[in-house]
Amino acid sequence: MSQANLPKGQPNRRSLLLAAGALASGPAAALNSAKGPAIHESRKRPVMVGSANALRGMKTQYPRLLEGLEPLDAAVEVVKVVEADPNDMSVGLGGMPDEEGRVTLDAAVMHGPTHNSGAVGALENTVHAVEVARLVMERTDHCMLVAQGATRFAKQYGHPQVDLLTPKAREVWLAWKESMSGKDDRLAPKKSQKSGKLYEYMGEKWTLEQLISDQRITGTIHCSSLSLKGELACCTTTSGLSFKIPGRVGDSPIIGAGLYCDQEVGSAGGTGRGESAILSCASFLCVELLRSGMSPEEAGLTVLRRVTAQAQRASAWQPEIVRADGLPAFNLQLYLLGLDGKHAGVSLFGTSAYSVADEEGVRHVPLVALHAK
Ligand code: GLY
Repeated sequence: MSQANLPKGQPNRRSLLLAAGALASGPAAALNSAKGPAIHESRKRPVMVGSANALRGMKTQYPRLLEGLEPLDAAVEVVKVVEADPNDMSVGLGGMPDEEGRVTLDAAVMHGPTHNSGAVGALENTVHAVEVARLVMERTDHCMLVAQGATRFAKQYGHPQVDLLTPKAREVWLAWKESMSGKDDRLAPKKSQKSGKLYEYMGEKWTLEQLISDQRITGTIHCSSLSLKGELACCTTTSGLSFKIPGRVGDSPIIGAGLYCDQEVGSAGGTGRGESAILSCASFLCVELLRSGMSPEEAGLTVLRRVTAQAQRASAWQPEIVRADGLPAFNLQLYLLGLDGKHAGVSLFGTSAYSVADEEGVRHVPLVALHAK
């Protein structure tokens, strides 16, 4: 229903925000006086939690968070480092394209104190999708803009129009396209192309064979932050599933799937197979399980158990969604940060790490895997 069609008197998002603004001292006071954890309680040390590739950005932003930087400013600056890096093929400039060779980006931000969010889906020609998502939150009455609308909106706000497909990403995409079928007119990739050259993906080195294998990749970066004032914010940004069907949007810009934060409880985000995060409302569920009293690790693993069960159910009509042993044929990583600063990183499989910045330093911490292998 368009807002013009709303029954007379029904509040829209803008009028609700204005009303909240008018009550300036009201909402926080009301929540603080309600039973449950107080919000905006100041902390001695801030905390940041995110995917492994967030480490570089955390190294520069954590000191700023210590000086009192706002949590959303810090999280956005962390992910912008990878968005702007042409060598990292998972996010932003240099990200993997869709099956037609177009790089389309998904991103979202969420701000705990105002419980507001903004997102873009299938955004093109714009390096900093996360900044456009933030503009949607701060400069519109909407939660999400997609495709040409999002791209035009970014242009209106002065975002330079850039060809995001770098020569390296084009090389990998063409190799994938040439490998797809023995029945079309394209010849298989040249052997010399598969000569051990390495490509950077989510902060790790990958071979061409790995990048174009049947195990589809979904590079993404997530960062949640908790400021000195005890305020939460988070963001997630991605170029999405490599070689996706044009128009496919994953979990990263979907509030509750690829990210979620609630100022009363905590923040969460995910990387990996977006469809599984959407189908399980993964980030929302993480935060709700924290609310119920679970530890971050317990909450994350509980969501992954549900994701596993959902994949097993889906295998009745999509057998390839599970492996021969019945476990999911994909990976999903979740990052959780409680209002008390406790955190966890969990994954369906694997031994990789997540990034943490707190009083113990800025570092990688091993993910806890639900399934042995
Ligand atoms: N998690 C990123 C995606 O599936 O697009």
